[in-house]
Amino acid sequence: MQKLLVANFKMNGNKNFYKKVNKEINKLKSKDTVILCPPFVYMPFFKFKNKNVFLGSQDIAEIDNKKSTGQINAAMLNEFAVNYSIIGHSERRANGESDELIAKKIQYAQKNGIIPIVCIGLKTKTLKVDFLVEQVKSALSLAENKDIIFAYEPNWAIGSGVQPTVKNIDKVIDVIKTTASELGFNATVLYGGSVNASNFEEVSKSKAEGFLMGTVSLKLDELFKIFKGI
Ligand code: PGA
Repeated sequence: MQKLLVANFKMNGNKNFYKKVNKEINKLKSKDTVILCPPFVYMPFFKFKNKNVFLGSQDIAEIDNKKSTGQINAAMLNEFAVNYSIIGHSERRANGESDELIAKKIQYAQKNGIIPIVCIGLKTKTLKVDFLVEQVKSALSLAENKDIIFAYEPNWAIGSGVQPTVKNIDKVIDVIKTTASELGFNATVLYGGSVNASNFEEVSKSKAEGFLMGTVSLKLDELFKIFKGI
C-alpha cells in the first residue's frame, strides 16, 4: 500500500536546514507520497523534482479576509504550490482553536484546492469514542469534498516517546472511518505521535494509511530512512 508520509517541522529549523532538506528530498526515490510542512517563511526554499513529493502548510486561515494580521490565506499558499494543510493540530487547539473554527478552515482549504490533513486527538489514554465521533462530525460539518484525510494524534503521544498499541490505533481508525462513511465521506486515516525509525515497523502493522511526524523530522537520517520505507 502506498503510504502518506507527512513531516511536520513545527517551529524548527533554519535556512541551512531547509536548503539541505530540499537537496536531499530531490535525491529521494520513494514509492510513498511525501508531504513536507515547513514554517511558512521557508516555503520558497522548496522546488521538487519528484512527482510524489508535495508541500504542506502547518495551518491556514479560515477566510480570505485581508484585514487579518498574522494569517496566511489560500491564494498565498497556492503561489508557493502548497497542496496540503495540517488543520486542527493539538498544539493549535491548545492555543484556542475551536471545533467550529477548524470546520471553517477545512471548508476554506477545500474550496481553494488545498487538501486538509485534519488532526483528531484524545487527551487521555482512555478511548473516548463519543469525543472522537464529535470531533469527526464537527470537522466534516462544512466540508464539501468527500475525500478527506484525518490524522489520529493522541495528545499524550505527541513528542513524548510513548505510543498507543496497534490495537488502540486500529480501534480509533475504525471509529473515524465509520463516522466519516456514515456521513458520506471517504476518509484516509494517518497516525501521528512519536513515530520514529525504531518504532516504524511496529506502527506500520496498524491500519494507518500513513504517518504524521514531528520530532523525527528534525533527524534527517532517520526521517529519510522512513521515507525510503527503512
Ligand atoms: P511527534 O509530533 O512526532 O513529535 O510526536 C507529531 C505531531 O505533533 O504532529
